[in-house]
Amino acid sequence: PKRIVVLISGSGSNLQAILDQTLEGQINGKIAAVISNRPDAYGLTRAEQAGVDARLLDHKQFADRESFDAALVELIDSYQPDLVVLAGFMRILTPELVRHYHGRLFNIHPSLLPKYKGLNTHQRAIEAGDDAHGCTVHFVTEELDGGPLIVQAQVSVTPDDDAASLQQRVHQLEHQIYPLAVQWFCEDRLSLSDAGVELDGELLASSGYQ
Ligand code: GAR
Repeated sequence: PKRIVVLISGSGSNLQAILDQTLEGQINGKIAAVISNRPDAYGLTRAEQAGVDARLLDHKQFADRESFDAALVELIDSYQPDLVVLAGFMRILTPELVRHYHGRLFNIHPSLLPKYKGLNTHQRAIEAGDDAHGCTVHFVTEELDGGPLIVQAQVSVTPDDDAASLQQRVHQLEHQIYPLAVQWFCEDRLSLSDAGVELDGELLASSGYQ
């Protein structure tokens, strides 16, 4: 089984979805540790309840981003992960960290990338009058929310939707596609090259964007 380290800042519902699938055997992997940069992240409790190492690395204890990320790399690497999963980890990462985990660092983002990089994605989709919205799992590169796409899921936006209702529906889909992407990786079906993302040896058409 592959070794997975999950980074969180909050509730950790995506962590839970992935954790459940590792425990049920759908994912050929084991979560070796969950690391939060925030002491109050509920995901730490989820990890503890599952008997997974729950580690706090509080960014406020560090003078700058570089020293925090250096300590983060050291902590992550102490678990020797094959895959590092950002699941609601609300920190911008240094290029050094991103390069260190090239090809084995995933993120999930609550929009149909390349639309709405950054924050407030649901509100922005509504204000733009979009018919469709969704979420994306992608490999992390130095371009913020710009790394090659692995899988997306889509919802229709209705006239009744507000940011909260959209967020709720998109969140449900996140819990489906994030474990799926992790499953593929753990079965050695996914890889990242200069050309983009390959799944079962086929280049994904939409995986090359920034
Ligand atoms: C998820 O909706 C995820 O897409 C988002 O944070 C939420 C975490 O939820 N991530 C980002 O916005 C990254 N920029 P969770 O803690 O319940 O998994």
